[in-house]
Amino acid sequence: KLGIVGTAAGSTVVRINRSKDLVEVMRAFKGTWKENKELSKQIRDELAGCCDVESSVMTKRNVKVGDQLPNVLNRKLPLKITRDIYRVLPKESPFRNKHYQKCAVVGNSGILRGSRCGTSIDSADAVFRCNLPPLQKQIYKNDAGVKSTYTTAPISMLKLYMQMKDNSVREKFLKDMASYRGILSLKKPNNYTNYMISAIEGAMKGKLSGVYEHPHHFMCIDNYWRNRGIPRKITSGIYIISMALTLCDEVHVYGFWPFSRDDKGRKVFYHYYKAPVFVKNAHNMPLEFFSIRQMHLDGVIKVHMQCSR
Ligand code: CTP
Repeated sequence: KLGIVGTAAGSTVVRINRSKDLVEVMRAFKGTWKENKELSKQIRDELAGCCDVESSVMTKRNVKVGDQLPNVLNRKLPLKITRDIYRVLPKESPFRNKHYQKCAVVGNSGILRGSRCGTSIDSADAVFRCNLPPLQKQIYKNDAGVKSTYTTAPISMLKLYMQMKDNSVREKFLKDMASYRGILSLKKPNNYTNYMISAIEGAMKGKLSGVYEHPHHFMCIDNYWRNRGIPRKITSGIYIISMALTLCDEVHVYGFWPFSRDDKGRKVFYHYYKAPVFVKNAHNMPLEFFSIRQMHLDGVIKVHMQCSR
């Protein structure tokens, strides 16, 4: 209907070139929102059935020394569970018996700038974030909040892991992490990431624990969305929305807008905390965003673009 969906190389692509299309996309978030408890429960049950959230984290129960797990970043190089990696795994999943009433899921789009959603985000019982956005600066607080319960670490940090034995790198990193709480989920376990986990846990004294994401869980969620029309690898954004859907009664979503303009034609930064670079990445973010928008229209999640004080 919006004249924006086409197909290329067998997969659906979304192109939004016209500003009137963006007005139409945004309109969905401006009307009144009504929760659909029945559909929310159905999606929650489907996700819980295929992708048990307790097994989203490697534990001593679901992994053993010698296992070779699929590597979602490079399928040719499986993740080998060594004795050293096994040693740092928790006995139980941190999500065992966890359930929250109200959750906030925060993406990193520049649409958060000036949104004044910080208070609304921080009022949630649990806050899910991805790729360790900076939290410590006062300037982001009003729009993005400061609370964190579960955060994924970005792959671009792999280089940083290797430099962590350098005192100044470690000190700066730990200072940047000081506002984080809860769980930090890392990919690709190795000796460097192990070192990083122990440095974080030592410095944060139990306020933040490092865990390894279990690739089977990510693959299950990826598969769930593939069966619902998202053909490329899912983003960490929709991954954490899916986790929140299984863990929380209410899911409130902020910071998702993969377009370089808003409905008024104003520039939107790719990240709320960085220069306005719009990057091409491995995902099909606009198409994925349409699934997020549909869940909002269906009353399953509530997407917030602007919040009043
Ligand atoms: N996002 C969005 N619009 C943007 C930027 C991000 O909707 N302009 C959402 C995406 O779902 C993304 C999430 O917010 O996964 C976190 O943003 P970012 O850290 O930029 O993720 P990427 O590194 O681009 O993607 P990923 O971690 O999924 O590989």
